Amino acid sequence: MTTVVPVSEAVREATAALTRAQVDSARSDALVLAAHVLGVPRSRLVLVAGFTPAALAEFRRLVADRARRVPLQHLTGVAGFGRLELAVGPGVFVPRPETELLAQWALTVGGALAVDLASGSGALALALAHGSPATRVVAVERSPAAVAWLRRNAAARAAAGDRPIEVVVGDATDPRVLAEFDGTVDLVVSNPPYVPEPSPGDGPPPEVADHDPPEAVFAGPDGLAVIRPLAARAAALLRPGGWFGLEHDETQPPALPALLSPWFAEIAIHRDLTGRPRYVTARRVAD
Ligand SMILES: C[S@@+](CC[C@H](N)C(=O)[O-])C[C@H]1O[C@@H](n2cnc3c(N)ncnc32)[C@H](O)[C@@H]1O
Repeated sequence: MTTVVPVSEAVREATAALTRAQVDSARSDALVLAAHVLGVPRSRLVLVAGFTPAALAEFRRLVADRARRVPLQHLTGVAGFGRLELAVGPGVFVPRPETELLAQWALTVGGALAVDLASGSGALALALAHGSPATRVVAVERSPAAVAWLRRNAAARAAAGDRPIEVVVGDATDPRVLAEFDGTVDLVVSNPPYVPEPSPGDGPPPEVADHDPPEAVFAGPDGLAVIRPLAARAAALLRPGGWFGLEHDETQPPALPALLSPWFAEIAIHRDLTGRPRYVTARRVAD
């Protein structure tokens, strides 16, 4: 007879291992990995008899990887973003819950034509296509590795019935990319790289430092190296009256009005539930 190890026992052991590895969400991550290995939603774990030896070996392998600070989403292969589940893994930035705020704002704007600059896995573009079927959505991404995930997610969402998005491979700051849309876009959204380059010994946690692509995260000493040319590009794409929504670092609000005011009015910084400034919105003025 095969010995079955109760879920509660395996999860307890995993939580202890992850706590020792200083994973913040140790128990929650252990439960997510258990549900992933057992092929059930987390809420149904209590109904599972337990881990077979093969399933337990797989669970322990994933817990060991998580203890080495591999992101949870790389281990399960998916990241939740609002109502969507996106495929993620090596080579693409894992979408963050805070970016859902920008996506929610974008859905209140909508419009006939929207562009997501620096799209990564496609989180913002696909959330827009899902929530605003009347909007034509174009996603621009430069990294070939990220584009592979973006195309995969775009195909999955289209197969699920969402309006297909258009994927453009290129530099989102290059005036030649999407030049045919200049002056016609209703909405530009972007969560670009914006983190200031860390000083030695003062970097982000291992999940970010070792697994998010550096070109997806860091942008020069003040973190504005991509935002500066990207704002100019967004301004060129937008029609007068069109909206720009941009996620940024919490240190950047003092710099943003001067950076945006050559082309934009109604500049507003939006805070998250913890009070941290997270994204800025602005409206294109006529030239
Ligand atoms: C912080 S990640 C965000 C990805 C996605 N927007 C999200 O919210 O999950 C930034 C993305 O910008 C891409 N990127 C960086 N510089 C770029 C550029 N000049 N043109 C196009 N994409 C760029 C990176 O490859 C990365 O996928």
